[in-house]
Amino acid sequence: MTYNELLDSRRSVRAYSDKKVSREDVEAIIAAAQKAPSWKNSQTGRYYAVMDKENLELIKSNCLPPFNQKNSANAPVLIVTAFERGIAGFDNDGQAVNELGNCWGAYDLGLQNMAMLLKATELGLDTLIMGIRNENELRSRLSIPETQAVVSVIALGYRDIDPKMPPRKKLEEILKIT
Ligand SMILES: Cc1cc2nc3c(=O)[nH]c(=O)nc-3n(C[C@H](O)[C@H](O)[C@H](O)COP(=O)(O)O)c2cc1C
Repeated sequence: MTYNELLDSRRSVRAYSDKKVSREDVEAIIAAAQKAPSWKNSQTGRYYAVMDKENLELIKSNCLPPFNQKNSANAPVLIVTAFERGIAGFDNDGQAVNELGNCWGAYDLGLQNMAMLLKATELGLDTLIMGIRNENELRSRLSIPETQAVVSVIALGYRDIDPKMPPRKKLEEILKIT
C-alpha cells in the first residue's frame, strides 16, 4: 500500500467482527509506535493491551460510556495509551521548558499513536480512538501508576462496516503560507 492509500483507507471503525487479532500483530503495532520521534528521544508513551476475553469485557463495561461500549463491541483488543508525565517538555531539574508543559508528552503520544493506526491499517486491521473513557477505572483496573497520564483507549479489530471519510476542512482554513 502506498502512503496515500494507507492514509485514505484508515477510518474510525465503530462496528467490529468477532475475528481475533494475533499477539504478533499487537506487538508489530506497538513496535511501529517506537519508531516515532519524541522529545529528546525520551519515548514516554506507555501501552496496556487488553486481549483476555474476561478482562476485555470488564474494561469495556466499567471504563467506557455506553456509546463507546457499543462502538467497540466485539473488538478483540483494547489498547490503553498513557505517557510518563514530567519528562517530555521538561528539563533535567523537572522544570517545564515552555508554556506547554505536559502537552509535549501528549504530543509525542499522538505521534506514536498515528504510527500505530497506520501500521494497523497496513496489517488489514481497523481502529477507533476513544477519548471519552473513565480515567480512574482504567488506572485502578490496569494498575497504571500515578506517574503516567492516562490518555486514550484504542479499539483494534476487523471491520464489520465500511465507513466513508468524514469531510475535512478546506486547506485554506488550516494553512497559512506567508
Ligand atoms: C483524540 C480523539 C478522541 C476521539 N474520541 C472518540 C470517542 O470517544 N468515540 C468515538 O466514537 N470516536 C472518537 N474519536 C474518533 C473521531 O470522531 C474521528 O477520528 C473523526 O470523526 C474523523 O473520522 P476518521 O477517524 O474516520 O477520519 C476520537 C478521535 C480522536 C483523535
